[in-house]
Amino acid sequence: MGLSKPHGGKLINRIDEKREIDAVVNKIELDNMALSDLELIAVGAYSPLIGFLGKKDYESVIHNMRLTTGEPWSIPITLPVEESIADRLVIGEEVRLVQNGETYGIITVTEKYIPNKEIEAFKVYKTNDRQHPGVMNLFKRPNVYIAGPINLVRRPKKEFSNYYLDPVQTRNLFDRLGWKTVVGFQTRNPVHRAHEYIQKSALEIVDGLFLNPLVGETKSDDIPSEIRMESYQVLLEKYYPKDRVFLSVFPAAMRYAGPREAIFHALVRKNYGCTHFIVGRDHAGVGNYYGTYDAQKIFSNFSNEELGIQTLFFEHSFYCKKCGNMASEKTCPHDKDDHIILSGTKVREMLKNGKKPPKEFSRPEVVEVLIKGLQDTYTKI
Ligand code: ADX
Repeated sequence: MGLSKPHGGKLINRIDEKREIDAVVNKIELDNMALSDLELIAVGAYSPLIGFLGKKDYESVIHNMRLTTGEPWSIPITLPVEESIADRLVIGEEVRLVQNGETYGIITVTEKYIPNKEIEAFKVYKTNDRQHPGVMNLFKRPNVYIAGPINLVRRPKKEFSNYYLDPVQTRNLFDRLGWKTVVGFQTRNPVHRAHEYIQKSALEIVDGLFLNPLVGETKSDDIPSEIRMESYQVLLEKYYPKDRVFLSVFPAAMRYAGPREAIFHALVRKNYGCTHFIVGRDHAGVGNYYGTYDAQKIFSNFSNEELGIQTLFFEHSFYCKKCGNMASEKTCPHDKDDHIILSGTKVREMLKNGKKPPKEFSRPEVVEVLIKGLQDTYTKI
């Protein structure tokens, strides 16, 4: 088995830093999500997309979880602008994509359309509740979508530049390492014992683990990416075999779309070269919007061939005091009382107050980094 083929067959490259742009006058200001989407389209992480979705593809993604060409695609990648800006744009025109006065890309406008955000919310997030962070953001963004192919003319500043690799680079790297099978792991959290358990269970059957934490925009109470990155480094240093794990960042924004986002996360990791992808409990979920295993069940809408990446599903894992081990309902016969289970909210609360979660829940070295990082953050505010 070789590395996975990119989604759609070929890795997209829309980077053109030499492109002459002086004559392009109109511009669209990008929010952070749009800027990260621009870059991820350009580097091929979102292959086969070459730009922001047009109306037909948008509707096809919303209703069928497929592009009009038939490939699975579950999250609409759109470029929302204010109506007053959209009115000034002409179809066929090239427009600058800017943030804070810097031009990062050019879009050739092929369409402008007004989405039905209520439908988008129900289809993508399964709710139109404005308390849901993804839905809140959807409605906060402007109301007209601009579509068209893009070029990236300037790379946005790379946060964590030592850990910032494009799909073409990770593919080369996996090849060089001789990994024939690579499991991708998405996370927006520190790696606790349950994460470690499912990663290492996967590592028992594949050549390498690609730890690919999302470091784009997340909701304000998630642990900041700088602190998380430090915690991953400590953990890998102390507890993982060096030659079988590779850490690099996924600069996308978090959508919190649960099941739909799990598919998106898997397809993107396929573009980075992964052959396998881990989906555990409530992947990319938030609050109680999704069932514990909805993000696993949704994969049954697609055949293995059309996904092109093998999912590895894991049950809710925990430390069991009686087993003296990490376990899940599949492997542990004991009572809930013997299981150490803490919610994300509870753990964040403890860490902020300098309280250490038990070592069965999180490695002490990780806890130390998190407590110190969070306390430094709070003293700065
Ligand atoms: S997220 O990006 O999916 O929101 P999170 O860090 O919460 O990030 O989870 C990363 C991956 O680990 C997901 O696939 C999730 O389903 C899985 N996961 C998290 N906690 C557990 C757990 N206790 N048991 C099994 N899987 C888990």
